[in-house]
Amino acid sequence: MIILDGKKTSNDIKSEIAEEVKKITESGNRPPHLAAVIVGNDGASLTYVGSKVKACEKVGYESTLIKLPDETTEDELLNQVEELNKNDSIDGYIVQLPLPSHIDTQTILMAVDPDKDVDGFHPTNFGKMSLNLPTFISATPSGIIELLKRYKVQTEGKNTVVLGRSDIVGKPISILMGLKTNPGNSTVTLAHSRTSNIKNLTLEADIIISALGIPNFLKEDMLKKGVVVVDVGITRVPDNSEKGYKIVGDVDYENVSKKCSYITPVPGGVGPMTIAMLLKNNLKAFKNKHSSCF
Ligand code: GUN
Repeated sequence: MIILDGKKTSNDIKSEIAEEVKKITESGNRPPHLAAVIVGNDGASLTYVGSKVKACEKVGYESTLIKLPDETTEDELLNQVEELNKNDSIDGYIVQLPLPSHIDTQTILMAVDPDKDVDGFHPTNFGKMSLNLPTFISATPSGIIELLKRYKVQTEGKNTVVLGRSDIVGKPISILMGLKTNPGNSTVTLAHSRTSNIKNLTLEADIIISALGIPNFLKEDMLKKGVVVVDVGITRVPDNSEKGYKIVGDVDYENVSKKCSYITPVPGGVGPMTIAMLLKNNLKAFKNKHSSCF
């Protein structure tokens, strides 16, 4: 069994990015600049955004964190988005999800300039991804693809079962795994909360990508031997530690890992890859804008 080490791989990617940033600044340009908007005080979201900002510092990016109160209206957030669209010193930005329920997420995401949409959530970018055209691919699915690529995991002709159909992970990764690409060329089944017998599907799967957010959902009796398991779950489960919680994936790692050819741990698997790929998208946004120099 080989562990798909997202922590190490993401550090490799961040080092590669830092090298590029060094060249950019040494040639007299400003460094790439990523902004993040967060609305409200959700602890997990604040932690994730904090990690994204910290990662910017590590690779030499400029970063801007815009914290807005929970009561922010949809119009106020749209104004903020417009400002970021216009601000020439910002190459890319994200609006951290979920948003408070009084704000319509799609309205906000559709207002983001697709050229600055380093999350790849705008329908233009999602559409381009589906057509295998150059674009920003959202960070979690592209982190999964990058891990599979760097570990040379065979996907062509394999049966891939994706668990969960979220717009951020399940839907895009199910499309990417089926594209005529490597990694890709997989036969994909997208299972979700209305799927009648998930175990029948997972037992036939060569690759399982679980993005349900249900701790320890995937058990060893649901898998065949030699399966590749990618665990996207990051649920906070209360415990007696100092933090008061631990991060638990969708996979019963201890028992499932014995049956796997490859598996991602939680933490240290897909999570760190998400941040690295966001930084990579922002470098792309910077280069697109300065295309005469790069
Ligand atoms: N919430 C959970 N994952 C993500 C992500 O990748 N981007 C944004 N903007 N919000 C998220």
